[in-house]
Amino acid sequence: MVRITYLGHSAFLLDSGEGSVLIDPFISGNPLAKTSPSDLRPDLILVTHAHDDHLGDAIEIARRSGATILSTFEVGQYALSEGVKAVPAHMGGKVDFRHCSVKLFPAWHSSSIGDRTLGMACSFVLLLGAKTFYHAGDTALFGDMRLIGEEFDVDVAMLPIGGHFTMGIEDAVRAAQLLAPKAVIPMHFNTFDVIRADPRRFEELLKRDTACTCMVMEVGECREI
Ligand code: NI
Ligand code: MN
Repeated sequence: MVRITYLGHSAFLLDSGEGSVLIDPFISGNPLAKTSPSDLRPDLILVTHAHDDHLGDAIEIARRSGATILSTFEVGQYALSEGVKAVPAHMGGKVDFRHCSVKLFPAWHSSSIGDRTLGMACSFVLLLGAKTFYHAGDTALFGDMRLIGEEFDVDVAMLPIGGHFTMGIEDAVRAAQLLAPKAVIPMHFNTFDVIRADPRRFEELLKRDTACTCMVMEVGECREI
């Protein structure tokens, strides 16, 4: 059993009872957020890329809680330079922790802080509490998502649907076809005007074109799977 809390935008807290994993904790800068970074005490923080709506409060949360940050080599090095615990890794690599395993995969996107490029963006497969999660980060649709679906029996895929910087609704439905997860949680929409999308429209298309269940979560909502 894993308890999933949607913290808004692309941020999730996943807790198996044995340990917790926070992903892309953009909280204090998110006008829709319902939590405070100081409420969060994860064991591990996954960061898909350095854009401020993903790296977010990761450094501050790691500093206060002692959590380890796992990210790409460059974002991991950046976290170490900020004096927090971090594991710089890269795509294709699988890293085992006490309570979970994480494999890094590509994402078609960039990674930067201001005008400083910090490597490339990634996505994650997370094995936690006998469940398998795929967090796509920010990405366009790409065909190699099929390989992820072949390698893993994904229980829940978190997919961006907001368009403009990432996949929109139609491409996210195609991503779900390639990944073939049991359930999809839409993310990265409606935080800003430029990424407006209707999750109910996504739910309709997902129902029409795939066998996946759509889990549209409200910001702050918790569910157990
Ligand atoms: Ni981004
Ligand atoms: Mn983003």
